Amino acid sequence: MAKPEIAERAEQLRRDLEYHNYLYYVKAEPELSDLAYDRLYRELAELETAYPEFATDDSPTRKVGGIELSEFEQHAHSVPMLSLDNTYSPTELRAFHQRVCKLLGSEQVEYFVEPKIDGVSISLRYEDGRLVRALTRGDGVVGDDITANARTIRSVPGRLLGNQPPAVWEARGEVFMTKADFEKLNKARAAAGDTVFANVRNSTAGSLKTRHSAEVAKRPLDAIFYARGEVAGVAVDSQSGFVEALNGFGFKTSPLNRLCEGIDAVLAVIGDLGAQRDSLPYEIDGAVIKVNDASLQEELGFTSKAPRWAIAYKYAAEKAITKLKSVTVQVGRTGALTPVAELEPVFLSGSTVSRATLHNFEEVARRDIRAGDFVEIEKAGDVIPAVLRPVTERRDGTETPIATPPTCPSCNGPTTASDREVAIRCLNAECPAQVQNKLQHFASRGAMDIDSLGEAMIELLVDNGFVRTAADLYELTAEQHGQLSRFEGHGSRSIEKLFDGIEKSKENPPWRLLFGLGVRHVGAAGARALLAHFGDLDKLAAAGVDELTLVPDIGPIVAESIGQYFGDDINLNQLDRLRAAGLTFAGEAADQAADSPFSGKTCVITGTLSEMTRDAAKELLLSHGAKVSGSVSAKTDFLIVGENAGSKLAKAEAAGVTVLSEGVFREMAGAV
Ligand code: IVH
Repeated sequence: MAKPEIAERAEQLRRDLEYHNYLYYVKAEPELSDLAYDRLYRELAELETAYPEFATDDSPTRKVGGIELSEFEQHAHSVPMLSLDNTYSPTELRAFHQRVCKLLGSEQVEYFVEPKIDGVSISLRYEDGRLVRALTRGDGVVGDDITANARTIRSVPGRLLGNQPPAVWEARGEVFMTKADFEKLNKARAAAGDTVFANVRNSTAGSLKTRHSAEVAKRPLDAIFYARGEVAGVAVDSQSGFVEALNGFGFKTSPLNRLCEGIDAVLAVIGDLGAQRDSLPYEIDGAVIKVNDASLQEELGFTSKAPRWAIAYKYAAEKAITKLKSVTVQVGRTGALTPVAELEPVFLSGSTVSRATLHNFEEVARRDIRAGDFVEIEKAGDVIPAVLRPVTERRDGTETPIATPPTCPSCNGPTTASDREVAIRCLNAECPAQVQNKLQHFASRGAMDIDSLGEAMIELLVDNGFVRTAADLYELTAEQHGQLSRFEGHGSRSIEKLFDGIEKSKENPPWRLLFGLGVRHVGAAGARALLAHFGDLDKLAAAGVDELTLVPDIGPIVAESIGQYFGDDINLNQLDRLRAAGLTFAGEAADQAADSPFSGKTCVITGTLSEMTRDAAKELLLSHGAKVSGSVSAKTDFLIVGENAGSKLAKAEAAGVTVLSEGVFREMAGAV
């Protein structure tokens, strides 16, 4: 064959194979026998090997991977990847509908309802019909470039089907594994002595972030698409039309998507989906409801976080019953002793659960939970599983009461109970478990964000006596650096990264440092509010409790705790050392209040909240720049409802006020 003919033949084979991939992996309706497919595939592979100049990146032969990266490049999304607000009840969903109606000045709204697939989102960019880039969501603005990995997903088109691809087509969707594939993968890993994945989402995320695409190709990844990014050269006038176009171009979309006229029809579809949930091959954690018409979507627009034209509806947490084998005790960073249930493993909402929190010993006593009991457990989304109640009907008399530990299980030191709180605490500030957990908190993503300082690294530093407090991290010497590099199991590269990470963290804004110090009752939002007010950690440390209480956002409990912390010489000494090490103490009057969805809004709280007191909720709202009022009126922007909400809820619904459950509120306030 002459060269132009070879090039043409290779191109023809790629088109044919792409189409047969689509029939096989997307439509599940293959036309070719495996043998016939293999023949075409081999012909193409041989041509591409013999004539590498005619090979292409998007060739179906690349689905087996073969690219190795040292790290992922970052790339900005052409259109930000927003997330969705959540609702948890028909009432909240109706409130969303009312909001939409009010904003559009209409009673009739057509919605497109889709299953909310529990996986990892991805954005694929096609230019002139060819896949050019795949990005993870990242922070919504910038994602990791995982193009080589995405190319290995069998149901992801390397090229769009059809002869007239649009100039730009960005399809967004969810990468996932089926429940069966996930179980199979974990079994194989366990058999090979590899760590098993905690849940489907983790295993999918882990697979997509693997740096060897040949390895990714072996993972059973699949993808379903549902949203658009940048699109040019083709008109999209509705969500249903967009999904049809996705199908036409060869993407997998959900067969469970439904067009609904009005909110009652939406609720009926959500009910149907919920009923099918367990029998679906993959995990869904809810439904997504989208205003169908694109011009109405545009009219509704976006908040800083999410579109106003779409919302997620999350199904209630799944529950399971299993045996509580024994109770172990965890020591937290503040010394609080938390009882943990060691369970007979049970599969629940996408993962195998073998441990669950029992919250505190008072709770254990109040619920009369005993070792050996069958217990009902629950897991909501990402939340750590919790034990709800003992199944007393199944007791056989062998169950034993759970005793409150008289000493700390980590250091054997004395513990105290106080009537001011339910927690029992270990009082020894040098307790190894506390030291470890304090440092873990300090380095965590929400605080100083030192990636290279994970649990194992902290253990190494603590066990060798190099580090006991945060300040010690910044005083590690060159000699210790050398010693660490020689420890087994920690390559010198990870030690390099550790030192780089510590150095870089010195530039963090001071609210991160304050939060990282772990002052009781000072969360990330509180730390930001405090620094926004004082502008300087030293000024904050010097402020008296009275002055702190005057800060509009700070309540008496937080003020007292801060006063106590900075009244302690040990803490002041640590502060001196951190300042001397060059950490950032001043600057950046964090303007988080300005980006908060609650900023400038009037909020009312009603009913009994389960995760926080009403005072704490109020404080949190104030720290976000909201006004908190006692009664619902036309001026109310948000009503936050706990259990047994009464007339305020009815009034708010009648007035079209946005109603937020406690969960949604906490999520929006960044307090989860
Ligand atoms: S729409 C602006 N549709 O849920 C549109 N998201 O909680 C934003 N998800 O980040 C997304 N299934 O990862 C949409 N049918 C679906 C979805 C879906 C799953 C995920 C997605 C998103 C998250 C938001």
